[in-house]
Amino acid sequence: MEMDWGMKNRISRIIQPDGRTVMLAVDHGYFLGPTSKLEVPRKTIEPLLPYADSVMLTRGVLRSSIRADTSTPIVLRVSGGTSVIGESLANEGITTPIVEALRLNAAAVALSIFVGTPHERQTLLSLSNMVTEGQSVGMPVLAVTAVGKELEKRDARYLALSCRIAAELGAHVVKTYYCDNFTKVVEGCPVPLVIAGGPKLETEMDAFKMTYSAIHEGAVGVDMGRNIWQNDNPIPMIKAVRSIVHDKATPKEAFDLFKSLKGKKK
Ligand code: 5RP
Repeated sequence: MEMDWGMKNRISRIIQPDGRTVMLAVDHGYFLGPTSKLEVPRKTIEPLLPYADSVMLTRGVLRSSIRADTSTPIVLRVSGGTSVIGESLANEGITTPIVEALRLNAAAVALSIFVGTPHERQTLLSLSNMVTEGQSVGMPVLAVTAVGKELEKRDARYLALSCRIAAELGAHVVKTYYCDNFTKVVEGCPVPLVIAGGPKLETEMDAFKMTYSAIHEGAVGVDMGRNIWQNDNPIPMIKAVRSIVHDKATPKEAFDLFKSLKGKKK
């Protein structure tokens, strides 16, 4: 189906003309509370906004902590209703209606799906309904293939299944994790894929290598959080990630850039 202008326009604000994107994920508080280094959202987010192609957050942090004259496109998280100390992270519902995303001038909405859990049906139907509503108003939908606390679920077989289901239900962009045999995930998913960074990796080089591999194996970009803003040098970190995503830098070149930017700061 030919996309309407509004839908195309919104997607083009997220995925840049080179077909790539660096999304900044700062929505963690919606189930984790005041996550380390994101305790005061404005302090963490504001300095990074100029280097992000879009920012993914909840309506509460958007209204309380982001200036309304920002030019960074907003990807609004619209699912939630669970917490890290609750019974199941998978038991999510829709927290924010699409009319509010329109009022907030969002460039896209994002929600999680929890395939293989007792709550898969409700989260998959939420995705489907959000796509139906999104299609009628020109709002793209990003589906996050969430794994809850079960980080070991991040293998190609599971992620390929989740990503394909998300695409089949109409997601315009899918966010997943990088894994061994990632090409299997990419091949089975007919819409653009971005990767989350996951928990902070041991070294910067680990994050650069993961970004590089994901891009070279077919992801259009990253929707990265902790590996950027939990680093002691978040601006050099996001700039180095950008160099891989947009400027064809190798992990070594990105690391050299990171080191030189970090040096200049001191
Ligand atoms: C949680 C999310 C987060 O935005 C996602 O995990 C990205 O952040 P990080 O790079 O820190 O993993 O969608 O469900």
